[in-house]
Amino acid sequence: MSKPKILITRDDIPQKALDMLKEKCDVDIWPKSFPIPRDEMLKRIPGKDAVFCLLTDKMDEEMLNAAGPSLKVIGTMSVGYDHLSLDEIKKRGIKVGYTPGVLTDATAELTVALLLATSRRLFEAHSELLNGGWGKCAWSPLWMNGWGLKDSTVGIFGFGRIGQGVLTRLQGFGVRRFLYNSRSPKKEGVALGAEYVAYDDLLKESDFVIITSALNDETRDIFNEEAFAKMKSSAIIVNTSRGGVIKQDALIKALKTGQIRAAGLDVMTPEPLPADHELINIPNCTIIPHIGSAEVTTREGMATLTAANIIAGLENKPMPANLC
Ligand code: DGY
Repeated sequence: MSKPKILITRDDIPQKALDMLKEKCDVDIWPKSFPIPRDEMLKRIPGKDAVFCLLTDKMDEEMLNAAGPSLKVIGTMSVGYDHLSLDEIKKRGIKVGYTPGVLTDATAELTVALLLATSRRLFEAHSELLNGGWGKCAWSPLWMNGWGLKDSTVGIFGFGRIGQGVLTRLQGFGVRRFLYNSRSPKKEGVALGAEYVAYDDLLKESDFVIITSALNDETRDIFNEEAFAKMKSSAIIVNTSRGGVIKQDALIKALKTGQIRAAGLDVMTPEPLPADHELINIPNCTIIPHIGSAEVTTREGMATLTAANIIAGLENKPMPANLC
């Protein structure tokens, strides 16, 4: 019997996952470690039974039409799924697997790293090292002062696994209050000593605002001009979810005018951000290139979970982690 056909949209997938898929499927791999161009994907997808995709690959109506009726399973190597047109996918009865859980620790850890890098100004300090700034002032009492977490109020927007993981990791820093906002109060909030507050109160009261929510119609651009106007001028915002949650022009203005103090971004719009983008040269903005889950065992876990989802979907068995 012939094996099901799968398109894998990148060649730098952890080997263990590739081996799993090669054993069960007839594999067509885009042989590069950068995103498959859309026209190339449109050419390769017809007749495939499954697709192993990444958050850089849009699975929209056009792509699904190109795939045709053979497509039964999509496995995305990500917990975020804003690149998948779920309504269209559901209409066609295609199963979707994703990777919740396996990247929680790595992403929560990176969020804390980015929060500290932003609040203690690590990138600015590193630039001073390179540009001779340190040589000029040696050690100075007021030089490179940042803002600590002790006695602060930390507000977490989106209180799923990653948001809760961030809170747990911050528990040793002497934070005075943890606030969170999500669709509704969560029982985990009580156990973690976090207060559920309205979105506006989170904005007004937090010294540090941490975004770990999904991107959807409710959250797109929710951090906009009005939101920044409600925040403290001393507030620091950190985003490791999706760039689209922040209205970026409004953020740039808020950073440049001192409406808020600083931002730490692992995600932004567009990705990749052009090297000459305005955001990159704002000193109170710490930017890293979407590396929240970039940790060796995490990426292997994401890839093998994606492979397991796809294989289960093709074999008509329950997926370990399915969206639909
Ligand atoms: C995801 O899986 O959605 C993350 O953004 C990857 O780091």
